[in-house]
Amino acid sequence: MRFRYVCSDCGRTFETEGLMYQCPECSKENDGTHFPKGNLIVELSEETLRRAREKEHVTPNDFYPYPSGDESAYPVGPTPLMRPRRIQEKLDLPNLSFKLDSQLVSGSFKDRASYEVALQAKALGEKRIVLASTGNAGAAMSAVGAALGLDIVLFVPASAPINKLMQSVLYGAHVVPVKGSYDDAFALSIEYTKRHGGINRNTAYNPMTIEGKKSVSIEIFEDLGRKIPDAVYVPVGDGCIIAGVAKGFMDLKKAGLISTVPRLIACQSERSDAITRAINEGDTRAISATTRADSISVDLPANGRMAARYVKESGGWAVTVSDEAILDSQITLTRLSGVLAEPAAATAYAALEKDRDSLVDKLGRDAEVMVLITGTGFKDMKAFEGRASLPPAIENSVDELDKLTF
Ligand SMILES: Cc1ncc(COP(=O)(O)O)c(C=O)c1O
Repeated sequence: MRFRYVCSDCGRTFETEGLMYQCPECSKENDGTHFPKGNLIVELSEETLRRAREKEHVTPNDFYPYPSGDESAYPVGPTPLMRPRRIQEKLDLPNLSFKLDSQLVSGSFKDRASYEVALQAKALGEKRIVLASTGNAGAAMSAVGAALGLDIVLFVPASAPINKLMQSVLYGAHVVPVKGSYDDAFALSIEYTKRHGGINRNTAYNPMTIEGKKSVSIEIFEDLGRKIPDAVYVPVGDGCIIAGVAKGFMDLKKAGLISTVPRLIACQSERSDAITRAINEGDTRAISATTRADSISVDLPANGRMAARYVKESGGWAVTVSDEAILDSQITLTRLSGVLAEPAAATAYAALEKDRDSLVDKLGRDAEVMVLITGTGFKDMKAFEGRASLPPAIENSVDELDKLTF
């Protein structure tokens, strides 16, 4: 067997490579008031880890529970590692880098999870994948579905940015806008799978989402010449991306390729800070999220417990920033690095700006620091309203040129 499942709460093991979502015992306690219990972790076999250890270079495929036989059918990386010189200078952090997941095919990090769930569907002979999304996961799953010939049913809040919704429509998914929050869409999509079948891809509810997301850490390890960064800044909503980042490094460690994992910094909006509360105070109650950074606006984080635990185990911490700072940092990123990031993605950079001095106190200014740029800003140009606008058109006349003031 290539893997088995382990409950992240009670530690029970499940010797199957079939479809499993949550620990049947721990999930009985979930009543929607506290972060859910019973999310499963995939544990790779010793043999799989041994094979990875012996390779000169590893790829995510060496660590996937359901490996791909044809990665070029939908490439999910490696994404570029950028050394943003002007931002390095601004923050006086000479070893800062950005991992540009905004360049994945559908424009966000979510391609990583979607691809592994598509491989799960293929392996299990399923054609239909059902999910809830704040927008990006849906677009990613719909894009992968289009490329690999899968049928996608997508529940999204009707208020999600129109480009994200249209993307999924264009890829050919069955899009169901919901007059409610992301958390409402999440609950509906699970009920839909219970009634009508298909594989549910909801973030963290399906453990393969974490397995797909961990691919970024395998890439980072190779990007840095088989080294790991000292700290990774990750935007956090449900806590699945950050758990995936942790899992990738944990698998590399289990394989004997690294001896420690980087500090993981959970970056949230002050207006959607459920996981920060869990990290700092152990408070796992649902909140009422209101941030403009739609992709990280989450009342009840689907992977809150695991995310908080992994951040603490890594020696990392949480940083919250105002929505104002998030939207300002989108402009800083575009002006000083050419990176156009959506608000959620810019949150990781905004958090680094705020945290810079305390980071240097802890790790020194030469620390290898990485910021995950998780989604492109092209999907949500409205976010720039009030901060940037198109100048009025000039008459088509050379006389007009002398009136320009720059
Ligand atoms: C661009 C972007 N960044 C960050 C996140 C947060 O990921 P997670 O909800 O797994 O914490 C999301 C989730 O939708 C996203 O789309």
